[in-house]
Amino acid sequence: MLKEKFILNNGIEIPKIGFGTWQIENDVVFNPVTTALKAGYIHIDSASGYGNEQGVGEAVRASGIPRKDLFITTKVPAEVKSYAEARQNINTSLEKLDLDYIDLLLIHAPQPWDKPWQSGHRYYEENKDVYRAMEEAYNAGKVKAIGVSNFFIDDLKNILAHCQIKPMVNQISFHIGNTQTETVAFCREHDILVEGYSPIATGRLLDNVEVGKMAEKYAVGIAQLCIKYVLQHGILPLPKSANDERIVQNTQLDFVISDEDMAYLDGLK
Ligand code: A2P
Repeated sequence: MLKEKFILNNGIEIPKIGFGTWQIENDVVFNPVTTALKAGYIHIDSASGYGNEQGVGEAVRASGIPRKDLFITTKVPAEVKSYAEARQNINTSLEKLDLDYIDLLLIHAPQPWDKPWQSGHRYYEENKDVYRAMEEAYNAGKVKAIGVSNFFIDDLKNILAHCQIKPMVNQISFHIGNTQTETVAFCREHDILVEGYSPIATGRLLDNVEVGKMAEKYAVGIAQLCIKYVLQHGILPLPKSANDERIVQNTQLDFVISDEDMAYLDGLK
């Protein structure tokens, strides 16, 4: 499963499951990423905003796995909203990761974190500028694929209307009880792969009684059921764990949730 791939709209292959590193600090990220790579993950999701690119890069380089066999994602911070800053930030990410290229580069969010869309300013012009810097990096071979994260349909339409290179990915929060149906359908229509972060709802689903009963039925852990649910929706899950045993457990996905049970899980709020 970890070695299976989706194919992006530019023909690049992306491993079907990525190891999420949100909320794993730079000084501790080396070990979880090393464990993940040993457990068979070949796709690691980082971000400039996580502050852990350096540690992620160190673990990737120390793994001894050929670079071409790995897929590394990072993101332009949500706060970076100009062409010049984005350009600079891409170079900084490459330096911190200490890699020759980035496999996938995303705009982390359409608005800076302290200015959510409810505040009214949608940053359409700024996102076009940031995206242009990413297209340049793509054309220069610094990144192999580009896309966005946390984008709603309007944000995507803005990019699609003005881009030279169509985004390949939209990374959004996706888990049981939060399936963002309309955004996912829009992405499918435009051949944009959806990646799902927080497949376990940052751990909140671990206490869900209904999900717990379903996991028991399949004799798997709740986290495994949650990750498989995302995959069976055709979405690329990015489970995060800082614990060696749980990192390994999250790779054990050799079971199939029935259509009936998927429909039941779809109905959970
Ligand atoms: P930990 O890092 O201590 O393993 P998400 O991927 O939705 O963001 O969820 C991450 C949360 O779920 C973290 O708190 C992580 O804790 C926990 N978690 C990840 N995998 C498992 C697992 N297999 N069993 C229990 N908890 C898990």
